[in-house]
Amino acid sequence: MADIIHKNILELAELRDVALQGGGQERIKAQHQAGKLTARERIDLLLDEGSFEEFDILKVGRDGLSCSATCPGDGVITGHGKINGREVFVFSQDFTVIGGSLGEGHSQKICKVMDLAQRVGSPLIGLNDSGGARIQEGVDALAAYGEIFHRNVNASGVIPQISCIMGPCAGGAVYSPSITDFVFMVERTAYMFVTGPNVVRTVIHKDITAAELGGAGVHAEKSGVAHFVYPNDILCLRAVRQLVNYLPSNNRQNPPFLDLNDPPERIDPALDYLVPPNPNQGYDMKVLIRSILDGAEFMEVQPNFAGNIICCLGRLGGQTIGLVANQPAVLAGVLDNNASFKAARFVRFCDAFNIPLICLVDVPGFMPGPEQEHGGIIRHGAKLLYAFTEASVPRISVIVRKAYGGAYLVMNSKHIHCDINYAWPTAEIAVLGPRGAAEVIHRKELKEAADQEALLKEKMEEYRKVYVNPFLAAKRGYIDDVIFPRDTRHRLIRTLQFLESKKAARPQRKHGNIPL
Ligand code: HXC
Repeated sequence: MADIIHKNILELAELRDVALQGGGQERIKAQHQAGKLTARERIDLLLDEGSFEEFDILKVGRDGLSCSATCPGDGVITGHGKINGREVFVFSQDFTVIGGSLGEGHSQKICKVMDLAQRVGSPLIGLNDSGGARIQEGVDALAAYGEIFHRNVNASGVIPQISCIMGPCAGGAVYSPSITDFVFMVERTAYMFVTGPNVVRTVIHKDITAAELGGAGVHAEKSGVAHFVYPNDILCLRAVRQLVNYLPSNNRQNPPFLDLNDPPERIDPALDYLVPPNPNQGYDMKVLIRSILDGAEFMEVQPNFAGNIICCLGRLGGQTIGLVANQPAVLAGVLDNNASFKAARFVRFCDAFNIPLICLVDVPGFMPGPEQEHGGIIRHGAKLLYAFTEASVPRISVIVRKAYGGAYLVMNSKHIHCDINYAWPTAEIAVLGPRGAAEVIHRKELKEAADQEALLKEKMEEYRKVYVNPFLAAKRGYIDDVIFPRDTRHRLIRTLQFLESKKAARPQRKHGNIPL
């Protein structure tokens, strides 16, 4: 008996040893030469040292189904571990084993950790590096993807789901990451597309490289698929840890409190001079963001996509907040299609995970023109309007400068029931900007005037004096207080504190119908 036990222990040690080798030394070398870490090295970097516990290390594919019957682990490493002491579930595709391709067993392993993550209420992090559906498994491989998609959708808004694309991710495989909350990509080694360069060449006779079609740069700047891009695996995984630190583990918890030793009552007199005297001059909204947030720290989502709006996670008085701000330094801070859907998705993420929303407003309006109208500015703008309006977390706005027309309403205004709306004395809250307004109101006089430009300037000045300020809105009670810019941090922290216990009733329904 003792011999049998001893034999089994030896066998276990041998089996584990084989599994730990993945696809073997040659393939591991090739992986490194391609500028990529192995699946296990990535897990080690992602998680707190020594915290990883693996499941299914001995799992192989079903006998006879494919070559995977002889591949321990079936091309993916799964389990759980900790990030700064908090539990997360992980899968990491092993490109050295059948190109990390996904078949039945591989999918079952991923589904197991997805189910556990949802049951336990912990984030799920997927490290993707795969040739896609395992060709030899045919329809079973497609069914296997379906099981993952189904779970991605069910876990959406319940636990944070984070995807890192660290190699190929092609075909229908892209749809799992794209359903998750945040997509990280690594420069040069990662690409994502539904149909690859070969299909593009065959169908539309166009030559294009994988990087040009779906590299990290393309998805960070053009498509808006990637939320974060890093130059290598190490920096990417470090950033995932940073993101997790801002988030609650699930939708029943509040985000973790972290004291950065930045006094809540700190004032910044320089803010009184942030807004330039010339209303047409831009300035960098990030100066304000850095000034008010704890330790001047924040994590910007999609920094290179629709830079006219800034979405970031930061902390105020130790509490995680989601911040949405117009950026006057880019396209004067207008709302366009990309800015609208970028911010709408961010707002919905924050709302799903109990992260209060702060909105810094300097918006001259929606971007005019056929490109935007035909591209769906009505639909996209409506997404942002819908997202802010349905959000039940504490919602605070500060109107820094421009707040014109419909764009003012959309940007978390009092009229769509934000909780508290402050304005700086520099705020301009009106239906139209001075030029547009004067041209409409004084059309007849202007037509008949000898010096049209001089009269227009005079009328614009009149309009500016009467309408372009925060005081009319304050008199009507639409602005809760006109605050000194220097006090913004302090006022926001005090407001967040009293809103902490906010409860917002929502009508009973299956779900709303956001204009997707
Ligand atoms: C089975 C695969 C595989 C796959 C790669 N391999 N992809 N095996 N099914 N999908 C194997 C290769 O045969 C090879 O095995 C090993 O993995 C490494 O692949 P290489 O080609 O040597 O690596 P590389 O040159 O880096 O090229 C990587 C690659 C290429 C670009 C990903 O392998 C490739 O084009 N693979 C096929 C991609 C694909 O068409 N997948 C299906 C997409 S459609 P050996 O033993 O030779 O080392 C899809 C649908 C999902 O995924 C639908 C969901 C609803």
